[in-house]
Amino acid sequence: MAYRLILLLFCAALLTIPATATNAYPSVPGTETSDCSLSDNYGDLIPVRREVYDGGRIIDISHRYTTDMPSWESSDGIGQFLWLPKSMKNGSLANNSEMKLPAHTGTHVDAPGHVIDRYFDSGFDVDTLDLEVLNGPALLVDVPRDKNITAEVMKFLNIPRGVRRVLFRTLNTDKRLMFKKEFDTSYVGFMKDGAKWLVENTDIKLVGIDYLSVAAFDDLIPSHLVFLEGREIILVEALKLDDVAAGIYTVHCLPLRLFGAEGSPIRCILMK
Ligand SMILES: *[C@@H]1O[C@H](CO)[C@@H](O)[C@H](O)[C@H]1NC(C)=O
Ligand SMILES: *[C@@H]1O[C@H](CO)[C@@H](O)[C@H](O)[C@H]1NC(C)=O
Ligand SMILES: *[C@@H]1O[C@H](CO)[C@@H](O)[C@H](O)[C@H]1NC(C)=O
Repeated sequence: MAYRLILLLFCAALLTIPATATNAYPSVPGTETSDCSLSDNYGDLIPVRREVYDGGRIIDISHRYTTDMPSWESSDGIGQFLWLPKSMKNGSLANNSEMKLPAHTGTHVDAPGHVIDRYFDSGFDVDTLDLEVLNGPALLVDVPRDKNITAEVMKFLNIPRGVRRVLFRTLNTDKRLMFKKEFDTSYVGFMKDGAKWLVENTDIKLVGIDYLSVAAFDDLIPSHLVFLEGREIILVEALKLDDVAAGIYTVHCLPLRLFGAEGSPIRCILMK
C-alpha cells in the first residue's frame, strides 16, 4: 500500500511536468517514460505505440514526430510543431490541432525541385513522384561502418542489376542520430562519386537512408544533384532502420500530395 502511494505521488509529479509540455499542447499522451498507469485519471486508457504490427509482418520504418527530433543544422530539435487552437477543454465541440514544420522534417522524401531550381519552377513537386517507385520489392543493406558511401563502397556492396529499391543502413543507425536532438554534421551519406556510381552502374530508383540527408554533409549539393538530375531517382531520408534484419522486403512509402512542395513527410513501412 505504501509502495503504491509512493508510486502514485511519483507518477503524478512526472505527469504534471512532462519533458515535452507546452502550454497549448500539454503533453503527448502515451509517451511518458515510466509506467504511470496507476495514477492515470482515465484508468486503463493508455494507447499502445508500436514499431511492428501483425506479429512482425509489418515494420514501421518512419520516425515518430516529436519536439526533440533533430532539425537541419539546429541544436535544439524541431521544437513545438503542434498547437491546439480549438480544444474541448476550451469549450469547442472537438479538438483540432494545427501543425507547422519544415517539409524536410523527420522521415521524408525529396522531389527534384529540392536542389534544381528549373525543376522547382516547372512543378516537379512531391505530388509528381512515381508511387510505383515508392512501393515494391526493396533491399535493406548494411553499409561498411568506417566510410561514407563512396564509389568504392558501392562497388563493394555489389548490388545486382534489377534491384530498384535499396535502403542503406549506416553508422547513423548505430549512433542513433535520429534520436538525438542535436544535428550532427558527421552523419554518413553518399559522396558525389558514390552517387555517380549508383546512377551509372545500378538500376536503383529508390534510395533510402537513415539520417536527414542521403548526401554526406561535405558533398551535400553535389550528391543531391547527381541523384535528382535525371528525375527518376527518389530520395527517402531519415528512415528508422533499427532492429530490422537486412534482406528483402516489400516497401511502402506514401508522401503527402503537397502541391508545389519539394519535400514531404512520408510514412514508410516494410512488409515481410
Ligand atoms: C485555451 O484558450 C486559451 C485562450 O484562447 C489559449 O491561450 C490556450 O492555449 C487554450 N488552451 C488549450 C489547451 O487549447
Ligand atoms: C482534447 O484536448 C484536450 C486539451 O484541451 C486534451 O487533454 C484531450 O486529451 C483532447 N481530447 C481528445 C479526444 O483528443
Ligand atoms: C562522413 O563524412 C562526414 C562529412 O560529411 C565526416 O564528418 C564523417 O567523419 C565521415 N564518416 C565516416 C565514417 O567516414
